Amino acid sequence: SIPTQSPDYLTEEHIEVRDAARDFAQTKLLPGVIERDTNQTPALAELKEMGELGFMGMMVNETYGGAGMDTVSYVLAIEEISKIDASASVAMSVNNSLVCWGLEAYGTEEQKEKYLKPLAAGEKIGAFCLSEPEAGSDATSQRTTAEDKGDYYLLNGTKNWITNGSIADTYLVIAQTYPEKGQKGINVLIVEKGMEGFVVGKKEDKLGIRGSDTHSLMFTDVKVPKENRIGDDGFGFRFAMKTLNGGRIGIAAQALGIASGAYELSLKYAQERKAFGKPIHQHQAIAFKLADMATNIEAARLLVLKAARAKDMGQDYAQLSAMAKLFASKVAMETTVEAVQVHGGYGYVKEYHVERLMRDAKITQIYEGTSEVQKIVISRGILK
Ligand code: CAA
Ligand code: FAD
Repeated sequence: SIPTQSPDYLTEEHIEVRDAARDFAQTKLLPGVIERDTNQTPALAELKEMGELGFMGMMVNETYGGAGMDTVSYVLAIEEISKIDASASVAMSVNNSLVCWGLEAYGTEEQKEKYLKPLAAGEKIGAFCLSEPEAGSDATSQRTTAEDKGDYYLLNGTKNWITNGSIADTYLVIAQTYPEKGQKGINVLIVEKGMEGFVVGKKEDKLGIRGSDTHSLMFTDVKVPKENRIGDDGFGFRFAMKTLNGGRIGIAAQALGIASGAYELSLKYAQERKAFGKPIHQHQAIAFKLADMATNIEAARLLVLKAARAKDMGQDYAQLSAMAKLFASKVAMETTVEAVQVHGGYGYVKEYHVERLMRDAKITQIYEGTSEVQKIVISRGILK
């Protein structure tokens, strides 16, 4: 395997968390992963168990039922889960770094008590609802409206592509309150499943992460109490951006996991499979693919850990998280394509896992900001 996996700031606890996540992924997620991918079934029982193990609210303070760990622990765990099941890891990533983090950082005590605690304990699942049919990268163009009606907001509109869409209980919904103020008029509201006028739309039939639960959501005259707004009036867009800065570290770790999962399978296969009288790794074309994979993964890992460490140290991490996601998602795509090649025809069938990892890799270049959006964030940062 890769020799220099552990920078010296990884503590014994970090290694323990990584090993626990690895063990869980191997024993609990691996057995059903092909079936869940085929049938588009979310790993509900497994997500519940991940909650019991503390993986759904890893960075939340223990006061609110979380595991009180740092971001480095979080990315190590996400990487291990993603090596096996990127559909489970996106549910984990959204719950941890978009929903729990946003609530803990900006919610009121009452909101934390009511909503954060069950999410952090993994008793409930969260969803983050920013994208719309006509507002993806152009996220300030929110068409969903949250009209101020005194003691409640009247929510109307449609959200698209929402991860955990039907399995969630708690939804953070971004919506426009003052169109004349542009992005400064946007709010973020906590919406509960079952509120009158809230309907979960169709499930998306996807190329990859087919075991993740992606839906559109429709809101028609949903009355959301005023106390469910997070932060000041008009803070919703900056809330989304600040939350996504951390979310992108999670997705970078997911991409790293997909790449390292594909690499580990390739390394093993190249030593087992024989062609022309010798194991295929003894053909230099295959050995060089493994060398490229290992090098790229190592570079991606350092960038992911650097972004996580910056967040833990209280440094600015917006650019680093965008760099980590941009780079790790490219490595995930390139590595998984080569992993299928190393496996030959066997790589093209489900049993060998690498075809799924290749399909799963693509989404890491699209969600939580496309690669082009990451370049906008990075270039604005370096040019300012
Ligand atoms: N961190 C902090 N603040 C940020 C920020 C960042 N990364 N990016 C923008 N902002 C702030 C700006 O500073 C600005 O605030 P002020 O007016 O107070 O200065 C405000 O947000 C508006 O920013 P811009 O003027 O730069 O806005 P823009 O219209 O040019 O768009 C963008 C900027 C970076 C393209 C942004 O729209 C964006 O990130 N788009 C992608 C949206 C996205 O990532 N969606 C993901 C949905 S969730 C998801 O996908 C989950 C999942 O799959 C699992
Ligand atoms: P568009 O914004 O229309 O982009 C189309 C193309 O144009 C892309 O290549 C893009 O990079 C490029 N482009 C756009 N603007 C620019 C520009 N200014 N400069 C250069 N290139 C540009 N959203 C949520 O809110 N919550 C979720 O839980 C969630 N989960 C998702 C799960 C899945 C499986 C998928 C597919 C999406 C999910 N999304 C979610 C939505 C995701 O974040 C968006 O799809 C993504 O932000 C891109 O938006 P878009 O699809 O509208 O593409």
